[in-house]
Amino acid sequence: MTPLIEVDAVSLRYAGAWPAPKSNALALDRVSLSVARGEIFGLVGESGSGKSTLARVILGLLQPLSGAVRIDGRDIASYRGREELAFRKRMQVVFQDSLAALDPRMRVQASLREALDLHGIGVPSRRSAVIEDLLGSVGLDPGLATRFPHQLSGGQRQRVAIARALSLSPDILIADEPVSALDLSVQAQILDLLTGLCRERGTTMLFISHDLGVVRRIARHVAVLQRGRIMETGPVADVFDRPASSYTRMLIQSIPRVDFNRLQAQLESGQPGNAGAMGTPAAGTLDAVP
Ligand SMILES: Nc1ncnc2c1ncn2[C@@H]1O[C@H](COP(=O)(O)OP(=O)(O)OP(=O)(O)O)[C@@H](O)[C@H]1O
Ligand SMILES: [Mg+2]
Repeated sequence: MTPLIEVDAVSLRYAGAWPAPKSNALALDRVSLSVARGEIFGLVGESGSGKSTLARVILGLLQPLSGAVRIDGRDIASYRGREELAFRKRMQVVFQDSLAALDPRMRVQASLREALDLHGIGVPSRRSAVIEDLLGSVGLDPGLATRFPHQLSGGQRQRVAIARALSLSPDILIADEPVSALDLSVQAQILDLLTGLCRERGTTMLFISHDLGVVRRIARHVAVLQRGRIMETGPVADVFDRPASSYTRMLIQSIPRVDFNRLQAQLESGQPGNAGAMGTPAAGTLDAVP
C-alpha cells in the first residue's frame, strides 16, 4: 500500500545562513522515511539535528535541494492554485510555542473562525456553534472563546492551537514539540488529548520530540535524526530496546527523565531533596512515562 507520507532522499541546505556553516553542511542529507495512514510516527534527535527543517519540507514551506515529498503518492511540488489550498488544508501543524502561533490581536473565537472561513468549512451561520463544539472537543470552556491568547494559560493556549489545527479535519497533523513548553502534569493531559483525537479521527500524526519516553509511549514507528541524517528507523520497540546505532544508544542514555514513581515515593516518605528524581535510564529500559 502507498504510504501516506513518503519522504524520498530529501536534501536541503539553508541559503544565506549567517554565520556561514564551516563545512557547508546540509541541514538534511538524503532523508527518507515513510509514514502509513493513521499511524503516529515519532521523529527524534538532538537540538539542531534537522527535525523542524524536515517538518517544514513536508509542509511544503521549504523546497528541498534534491529529493521529493509525496503525499498519497503525489509529489507535493506539483500542487498549484486551488489544489495547493486544498492540499494545505489536509496537513496542519501544532508548534511548541502556541503564543507565537496564535495571533495576539485575535480572540480565540476569531482565530478559530478564520481557519473555517479561509477553507469555507460549514455554513457561516453555523460557525459559532462549530466553534463551541471545537472548544468542547479539546476540553475548553466555551466561555474562553472571547479571550485573547495572552489571557490563557500555556496549556489552554495549546488546546486552542490543537482545536484550530483539527477544525480543518486534516489527514495529517505535524506536531513539532507540542508539549515541550508545558508543565509535566499539563504535558500528559495535552498528549492524551492529541493522541486521543488523532486516533478517534484516524488522523496521521508526525510527532516531533526530543523526549524519547513520550515518543515510545505514543508512536508506532520512529526515525532518529542526527545532523540531518536518518540514523535508524523502525518500530519503537526495536529502535529503543535494540538500538542499532551508537548515536541512538547515546541519545537514550543521555536524556534525563523524571522518575515519577521514585518522586512519589520520596514525597510520601517525606524524604528531603530530589536526589534521583531525575533519572538517567539505562539503554533498553526506557519505559513509558506514567
Ligand atoms: N532559517 C534558517 N537559516 C539557516 N539555518 C537554519 C535555519 N533554520 C534552522 N537552521 C539550521 O539548520 C539546522 C537544523 O535546525 P532545526 O531547527 O531543523 O533543528 P531541530 O532538530 O528542530 O532542533 P530543536 O530540537 O532545537 O528544535 C541547525 O543547524 C540550524 O541552525
Ligand atoms: Mg525544532
